[in-house]
Formats: sequence, C-alpha cells, structure tokens
Amino acid sequence: MISNCRRCRLSEGRNRIVHGQGPSGSRVAIIGEAPGAQEDAAGKPFVGRAGKLLDQSLEMHSVRRDRVFVSNIVRCRPPGNRKPKRDEIAACRPFLIKELSSIEPRIVMTLGGVAFTALTGSSRPLREVAGKRFDVELNGIHLTVVPNYHPAAAMRSRAIRRSFEKIIAENLSGKKGR
Ligand code: URA
Repeated sequence: MISNCRRCRLSEGRNRIVHGQGPSGSRVAIIGEAPGAQEDAAGKPFVGRAGKLLDQSLEMHSVRRDRVFVSNIVRCRPPGNRKPKRDEIAACRPFLIKELSSIEPRIVMTLGGVAFTALTGSSRPLREVAGKRFDVELNGIHLTVVPNYHPAAAMRSRAIRRSFEKIIAENLSGKKGR
C-alpha cells in the first residue's frame, strides 16, 4: 500500500497514512470512519480511546484483535476530526476495495453511520439498522455487512454501549479467524 497518496485534500494535514491492519485470512473486518490524532501519529487504526474500547469489547467476547482486520473508510485524519466528505471517501475507496478483496472476510462490521453509508449506499439511521445484516457487492466481491455503533458513541451513552456489545457478541463471538 502506498505511503505518499495525494488523491484528496486530507493528505495536506496528515502525518501518517493509516492503512488497515490484520491478518490476510481474517474472517472478520471491522471498518471505522477515519483516523483520529493518535492513529495519525502511530500510522495504525484504532489505537486511541475508541480503539481501547473496541479492544475491550472484542476481548470480552473472546475475539482477538490480532485475528481480525481493522481499517477505516478514509486513511488520513480529517482536520479537527470532522467527518470525511463524499469526495474524500470516493478518493479513498480503491484502498478499501483492495483490502477487502484480498481478505474476503465473511463479515464486515461497520462502526458508525459514515462507514455504514459508505459501504452500503444506504443513509438509513443507525438506530434502525444496527445489528441487521446487509448483503453488499463491492466490485464483484460479496460481503455481509453488519452495522454497529461507533465506539466513540458507545463511550458517551450506556444504552449505546450495551447495543454495541450485544452486536459484537451476536456477530463476532466465535469468529476469531482462520
Ligand atoms: N475512529 C475511527 O473511526 N477510526 C480510527 O482508526 C480511530 C478512531
């Protein structure tokens, strides 16, 4: 994967490109929105506070983080952690397609509304779709997408945290890898 991408304006403010991480045989891919400050500094996805919560929740349900593939819809940190824009998402899409087509995960869990919309094209609110399964075709690969809440939202609300854990338990538990 490249380290000097200039396809969109997010390249202007980034320190590191944050590509996905995880074994190529992962059955599960977890896709977030965009790197934050800590990810931008480390060059790795979900290493900050939201990542710690994700790790804890995976561990609680016997899913090892090092056995799942973790990535984001965009690879560079948006300024001030704003949501990535449509053209930025489109510019970054080939990287995500390349990752998902080489891994061919059985389940893709999206974290947050941006990731759900980017992968399914649907703008239905998360409260309606969280935990449901969506069959998606992405450049000839068939994926089962399970939308979940973003861990940052789970940090702010106990009710969301409960739903977040439940969706992990119901969909990822026992699917640690190959
Ligand atoms: N939030 C995300 O969506 N992705 C990360 O990598 C970190 C925080």
